[in-house]
Amino acid sequence: MGHPPRLPSGGIPARLCPLGNDVVVRDAQPGELPEVGALRVAAYRAHGFLPPASVYAGALRDLGADGDGDVLVAVDESQILGTIMLERWRPSSELACQPDEADIRALAVAPAAQGRGVGRILLRAVIDRAAARRVRHLFLSTQPAMAAAQHLYAAAGFTRIPDRDWSPVPGVTLLAYGLLLDTPQPK
Ligand SMILES: CC(C)(COP(=O)(O)OP(=O)(O)OC[C@H]1O[C@@H](n2cnc3c(N)ncnc32)[C@H](O)[C@@H]1OP(=O)(O)O)[C@@H](O)C(=O)NCCC(=O)NCCS
Repeated sequence: MGHPPRLPSGGIPARLCPLGNDVVVRDAQPGELPEVGALRVAAYRAHGFLPPASVYAGALRDLGADGDGDVLVAVDESQILGTIMLERWRPSSELACQPDEADIRALAVAPAAQGRGVGRILLRAVIDRAAARRVRHLFLSTQPAMAAAQHLYAAAGFTRIPDRDWSPVPGVTLLAYGLLLDTPQPK
């Protein structure tokens, strides 16, 4: 049996996505956030995307701890396999500029669980969550070397937005991607 779905703060039911027999995607529980943060750091480090001395490790670990976003996790019966976050627009957003826009943050799958389709269902789940929250335009930033992630983004319909590429620190350029959602808006 999978974990029971938890209703997020906005009252939108968590979406269950089967992978094999026992993997579901649901909202992270508050007590799971430290484990989620550690998983992100381990996944990024396993691919060399987070140098040991990087000051970004702390920020990556803490994403979502302020409650200003939907932290989703893919879980099987015993453990968290991966995670992704929908960050609603706010003044400090990386790419979203207005309330009907949002950023995807920190897609990560535990190194031992990669290559099984977990990343793909997490991305599908966060797109569905964005649509449920009436997001019209989803954005994300990715490092040029994150080839597996970019493969998943392109497969999901994201396209490059080169004029939104940006640099968090000198010498590092992040690639911007966007996806327009066909989301009905309130009249
Ligand atoms: C990106 C990541 C989340 C993917 O997780 P995953 O569970 O392995 O993903 P999936 O198994 O669902 O799919 C991986 C896809 O990438 C493809 N892929 C793997 N390595 C690749 C590479 N070097 N270049 C292109 N595609 C690649 C796989 O073939 C697969 O595609 P397919 O199903 O069409 O064959 C995982 O590799 C990860 O945590 N990486 C480190 C963190 C990261 O890069 N995050 C992105 C932040 S923007």
